[in-house]
Amino acid sequence: MGSWGHFNCSYSCSFLLAPEDPLFPLVGSLFLRELTKEFGTDHIYGADTFNEMQPPSSEPSYLAAATAAVYQAMTADQSPAFPGSLPVHIPMDRTVVLITGCSSGIGLHLALRLASDPSQSFKVYATLRDLASQGPLLEAAQSRGCPPGSLETLQLDVRDADSIAAAQARVTEGRVDVLVCNAGRGLVGPLEAHKEGSVDAVLDVNLTGTVRMLQAFLPDMKRRRSGRILVTGSIGGLMALPFNAVYCASKFALEGLCESLAILLQPFGVHVSLIECGPVHTPFPEKVEGGLGGMLDRADAETRDLFYRYCRHCERVIREAGQDPEEVVEVFLQALRAPRPALRYFTTERFLPLVQLRFSDPSGSDYVAAAHKSAFHDKAAEGSDGNGAEAEAGKLGASELRAPLAPQ
Ligand SMILES: NC(=O)c1ccc[n+]([C@@H]2O[C@H](COP(=O)([O-])OP(=O)(O)OC[C@H]3O[C@@H](n4cnc5c(N)ncnc54)[C@H](OP(=O)(O)O)[C@@H]3O)[C@@H](O)[C@H]2O)c1
Repeated sequence: MGSWGHFNCSYSCSFLLAPEDPLFPLVGSLFLRELTKEFGTDHIYGADTFNEMQPPSSEPSYLAAATAAVYQAMTADQSPAFPGSLPVHIPMDRTVVLITGCSSGIGLHLALRLASDPSQSFKVYATLRDLASQGPLLEAAQSRGCPPGSLETLQLDVRDADSIAAAQARVTEGRVDVLVCNAGRGLVGPLEAHKEGSVDAVLDVNLTGTVRMLQAFLPDMKRRRSGRILVTGSIGGLMALPFNAVYCASKFALEGLCESLAILLQPFGVHVSLIECGPVHTPFPEKVEGGLGGMLDRADAETRDLFYRYCRHCERVIREAGQDPEEVVEVFLQALRAPRPALRYFTTERFLPLVQLRFSDPSGSDYVAAAHKSAFHDKAAEGSDGNGAEAEAGKLGASELRAPLAPQ
């Protein structure tokens, strides 16, 4: 069943629809076009702004419904001169959003945020690798009062093309307007300490899994000449972090993947955006492939020492700069609602100076030196004598190593 969007047109012709409303760009531009014809631009407040806006969907049914509502409003009995406030109801399909990796963290919070949006304009397919882990999502949806039918869970493992196809077939609307490729897995530790299969698994989830999702959903978006793709990116995809070599490789690869597609997709009306996250408070560190550090005894003592130092550094960064997922998902909404979405959105500006350093010295030397100093000579993390991490080296137990690493 479709939901109802509405806006009011007052006598002075100023629009009362909130700019954040997903209907704003479409209704604003169509309605304005008609009002301008009727009254001339002098009487229309903000005409230029509205004229600039593009409808969020070029679906014929969507445009037809909105246009019909506009004419209905223009010709309604009670509106010879738009006295007072004139409500206009536009029957429209909800924006269909499919998100991967909703068992916890960013995916879970984004699904909840959209399904409970006051506009009731989203239908959310929250997908999970394993439906047995949907409890926290469903409980939170209930306590947040998500309206019936606003949220549906589906099994979807991004490593399994059949599971992607099965989930796609269960989208009853027959289309996905917004695809959020969020599923991801960390891999942290010295390269030589990664367990058998860990490297393949992480690349398969983070990179190939995203490619599989795009291969499944992009062709229909191109055909409909409408759609948005949001990919959970990482600061670790813009600047490398020690002991995250494979994870960073996967996130760097997503940058190339998305940038390449964004260039191609311009004429198709399909937009790709990366939501670049710094450290976020989620269970991500607890789920890193092969456990934090991996098989550390395979690494030499000096590398292990540097790893412990890095852990200390990350603890501090997380403490000072870690974001809550609720804060991060608002940036997803910003991208989702932008009339002309950018390729990149940053959830925090904290790491931008280092990212910029990477580009300001194309040789890479400045960044490598600065990152080494930051990760391994972090006096604030090691204590004032600078020897804290060294003193602790070798003493850290498994529970201490569970401290979140940042930025991922
Ligand atoms: N937390 C951070 O500091 C941070 C920073 C930058 C970027 N990111 C990115 O944010 C995204 C979400 O991570 P998060 O922080 O929210 O951590 P999270 O709570 O661990 O969420 C990751 C999600 O991905 C799912 N997933 C893993 N393998 C999958 C597969 N094969 N198929 C489908 N889903 C799979 C996990 O499901 P299971 O529970 O079933 O394993 C989980 O739901 C990831 O792409 C991550 O790289 C996180």
